[in-house]
Amino acid sequence: MDKLVVKGGARLSGRVKISGSKNSALPILAATLLTPEKCVLHNVPDLSDIRFMLEILAQLGSEVTFENGTVTTRAPKVKSETPYDLVRKMRASICVLGPIIARCGRATISEPGGCVIGDRPIDIHLKGLAMLGAESRSEGGNVYVTSKELVGREIFLGTKFGSTVLGTDNVMMAATRAKGVTIIESAACEPEVRDLADVLVKMGAKIVGHGTRRVEIEGVDGLGGCEHTIIPDRIEAGTFMVAGLITGGDVFLDGANGDHMINVIDRMKSCGAELKCSGEGIQVAAPRKLSSIDLVTETYPGFPTDMQAQMCALMSVTPGISAITEKIFPSRFMHLSELRRMGAKVDLEGSTAIIHGVKELSGAPVMASDLRASAALVLAGLVAGGTTEVNRVYHIDRGYEHIDQKLRALGAEIERVR
Ligand code: EPZ
Repeated sequence: MDKLVVKGGARLSGRVKISGSKNSALPILAATLLTPEKCVLHNVPDLSDIRFMLEILAQLGSEVTFENGTVTTRAPKVKSETPYDLVRKMRASICVLGPIIARCGRATISEPGGCVIGDRPIDIHLKGLAMLGAESRSEGGNVYVTSKELVGREIFLGTKFGSTVLGTDNVMMAATRAKGVTIIESAACEPEVRDLADVLVKMGAKIVGHGTRRVEIEGVDGLGGCEHTIIPDRIEAGTFMVAGLITGGDVFLDGANGDHMINVIDRMKSCGAELKCSGEGIQVAAPRKLSSIDLVTETYPGFPTDMQAQMCALMSVTPGISAITEKIFPSRFMHLSELRRMGAKVDLEGSTAIIHGVKELSGAPVMASDLRASAALVLAGLVAGGTTEVNRVYHIDRGYEHIDQKLRALGAEIERVR
């Protein structure tokens, strides 16, 4: 099992290339099941979650290649039974449900279990698909979905936390092949949902309103192939933004799209960061002294929950008291106990982390628990005195392409130890 060994103290500077978005690529890969024609996707990040999804597509009958960031798929026929062992391991694979139902009229998929960031229900996915005419029943950890035909209608997809990203994706993909018009109210507006809709439109779908809370899809008889370049990963960009700030550095996020990060940019400016956005990327320079801030995670365009752990790391070494409230996954605080081991002063009150900034963290062996928590521990290690060992690095490899190489190129002292 690999671990990352980080020696704190280096000030990061230079350019880092931001990879394609994992959370855009995953549903777009699932969407290729909607057509028997060839799809070509560029700027796909080489991550274990992506390779997992490619394996699932292959087992469903798609011919898949992946070379130099480009994926080609061709799915002449699609099986309706998803591979249990693969789907169990990656919650995001639930987004093959909509395409399989649209293509096959039925689907069998294992109920995604919970994960360390909290419960991961799919009740709203199933409710939306049921409203299109796809009945589902859960039995023995599997969900069996059948639909004689899909018929469009108005569907409210709100959850008690706001909207659902993959739930919106599933219903939108199924609706492309439903009879008539589907209107999704309380749709997720994340840039990744919009990127998926842009791909579906390229495939011949009729969609308007994507990227807003109200999306209208007029069903079509069939979808064709497409060629598309995946948008940059705004969470990777935000993570490297914090890496620059936490080390008092000055980094250029090559390829980052500031339009997808308005809230993150606003909160970083409140910390005192100097940020310059251009067509090429975002320049991030740390102030002499960071200011503590309060923040709340919300659905887009709010502050992203996937950046919450990284902000806890940053605030743990920022003078003053910060309050970070998690409203999407209220128990997404596995990183706090590990940050405490490094000397962070943080209390959890309900789903709010109250952080008293300390002068210095001290390096320690820590345990990664989920994708973003592990990134936060690496960020803390960059600034902690001494050496930090982040174990179970497979978590980080799920969502960050060559993070150790990219950080080393910016001047960090970080090694991957087999
Ligand atoms: C996507 O997950 C992302 N994953 C997550 O990123 C991200 O944290 C999340 O959206 C929120 O932005 C991918 O895009 C692959 P949700 P998703 O459905 O779609 C509740 C990462 O680190 N809910 O938007 O699964 C749910 O429990 C990952 O890259 C229901 O109650 O998340 C949560 O509290 C982690 N019923 C809230 O809604 C449902 O049927 C938002 O979840 C569905 C969701």
